[in-house]
Amino acid sequence: MMKQTALITGASKRIGKALTEHLAEKGWNVAIHYNSSEKSALDLVASLSAMYPDQKFAAFKANLEDVLEVAQLVPNVFSAFGNIDLLVNNASVFDASYLKETTVELFDSQMVVNFKAPFFLIRDFASQCKKGNVVNLVDTRITSNKSNFAAYSLSKKALWELTKMAALELAPNIRVNAIAPGVSLPPEDKDENYMKKLAACIPMKKPAGVQPIIESLNYILQNNHLTGQLLFADGGENLGQNE
Ligand SMILES: NC(=O)c1ccc[n+]([C@@H]2O[C@H](COP(=O)([O-])OP(=O)(O)OC[C@H]3O[C@@H](n4cnc5c(N)ncnc54)[C@H](OP(=O)(O)O)[C@@H]3O)[C@@H](O)[C@H]2O)c1
Repeated sequence: MMKQTALITGASKRIGKALTEHLAEKGWNVAIHYNSSEKSALDLVASLSAMYPDQKFAAFKANLEDVLEVAQLVPNVFSAFGNIDLLVNNASVFDASYLKETTVELFDSQMVVNFKAPFFLIRDFASQCKKGNVVNLVDTRITSNKSNFAAYSLSKKALWELTKMAALELAPNIRVNAIAPGVSLPPEDKDENYMKKLAACIPMKKPAGVQPIIESLNYILQNNHLTGQLLFADGGENLGQNE
């Protein structure tokens, strides 16, 4: 039987890398998308190819702010692998800015990378692949109106709305679901203590790491009647605080 292929955006590091390694372990081929992290992407291709010689791994560069590069991504992966069974929209930018301080450039970068690029990748996946799964990484912040990451939060709210709209249009052959992480991994300039302080305010009281996100992906892939749904992998953060 032909092996299944996943295209994961922003796959060379952090959560995208963990999802890539997990799917590789489960027997998938993986198209590892990257933008600036070429070395990490190529190193990941090399290590996974050595560990799983019967599976295929390849790296694909695309700047998701560039419409032409976005337009080439699904066709390039499709012609290299012969099919794509799963698209994971994981790549994102995460820039703090209150509404009153937000520049047009910051607004555009959050909306383009986090919402517009996934929109067109889903369109291209649907027209080229005909069946399979889409999983969008949103954020537990979509349940709040806190504006310290105003444009980022709105881009993820829009991505969640897109998840439901796409699920309706693309059913029954393509299922579209979302995962909302919370306090998972620290930003690259912050350490574990920063995460512990944040986690003290959430019901489960500790940072999640990547495992709850991996378990959510497994659940989505296994449950073949699930579409248009959001799984919170956030230790209960979406429930708010009890005091
Ligand atoms: N980390 C958390 O605790 C957390 C919490 C809530 C939600 N999430 C969501 O979970 C997902 C993964 O989080 P993360 O922290 O692992 O992400 P991340 O490290 O911030 O970003 C993942 C990748 O996105 C890619 N990217 C950024 N701008 C790009 C562009 N213009 N074109 C193409 N790729 C671009 C980068 O690829 P290159 O390095 O190759 O440039 C980067 O490695 C994101 O969607 C995030 O919003 C994460």
